[in-house]
Amino acid sequence: MDISRYFCLKFRKITKSNFHCMPNQEIIKTEDGSDTIYNQDIGESYHSRFGALQESMHVFITAGLRQIKYSSVNILEIGFGTGLNALLSLAESMRSGQTMQYITIEKFPLPRKIWNQLNYTHILPDIEPHLFNSLHDAEWNMQTQITDNFSILKLSCDLLEIDYSTFAPVDLVYFDAFSPEKQPELWETSVIKKITSCCAQGSKFVTYCAKGAVRRSLIEAGYTTERIAGPPGKREMLRGTKNSRKEV
Ligand SMILES: C[S@@+](CC[C@H](N)C(=O)[O-])C[C@H]1O[C@@H](n2cnc3c(N)ncnc32)[C@H](O)[C@@H]1O
Repeated sequence: MDISRYFCLKFRKITKSNFHCMPNQEIIKTEDGSDTIYNQDIGESYHSRFGALQESMHVFITAGLRQIKYSSVNILEIGFGTGLNALLSLAESMRSGQTMQYITIEKFPLPRKIWNQLNYTHILPDIEPHLFNSLHDAEWNMQTQITDNFSILKLSCDLLEIDYSTFAPVDLVYFDAFSPEKQPELWETSVIKKITSCCAQGSKFVTYCAKGAVRRSLIEAGYTTERIAGPPGKREMLRGTKNSRKEV
């Protein structure tokens, strides 16, 4: 079954009115000049305070996407949030010419009045502002073609409730949940295993987190893991490769 149709059917009943809401959010400036959001309920920001843009570029694009050499890449993101990872991936698809199918899961979609104040397109002059708007305006739970080679499917649901086995094989996972200290249930081995069930052999899994417990969960889920240099302000991050042999 066509994946976008599956999700349209499955999540059709979810409309704006029954989105979960995290109301206490404020935009803050990070050290590289890019904005992020601070969530007062959770007590954590969506990105590193040392630099939202630098962190996203380093962890997800350089250490993740640029390692995938296929002409067509299926990406699964945990936590759409501000849309920064999606925007940088879209920009990368335009740079590299790769085709990308981007699936992202978000339980608490941001309201327009917040996302349209974010400064990403001001500080990224090569990216046309309408592209950022298109990502946010794309209807939830419907696959939307943003450019000739980039489509997005935003799923408004709890990542714990998804049947990942229905996804087309994923080449790259951006695991960008709030930290294990704040949302430990999202980092359980069982959750990582469920996500892994839709990942192709040799696929990559990247996260800003370098904790030993997360690394062990990745290994248990079938990844070879590497601790690699982290973004500014963070010594290390984790990258997994599914079912490779050598443990680094
Ligand atoms: C660290 S932020 C993600 C940042 C995002 N990737 C970006 O580029 O802005 C974590 C995200 O996970 C979302 N989230 C929290 N709990 C969730 C859950 N159970 N299911 C799906 N998304 C969840 C939050 O609303 C938040 O947007």
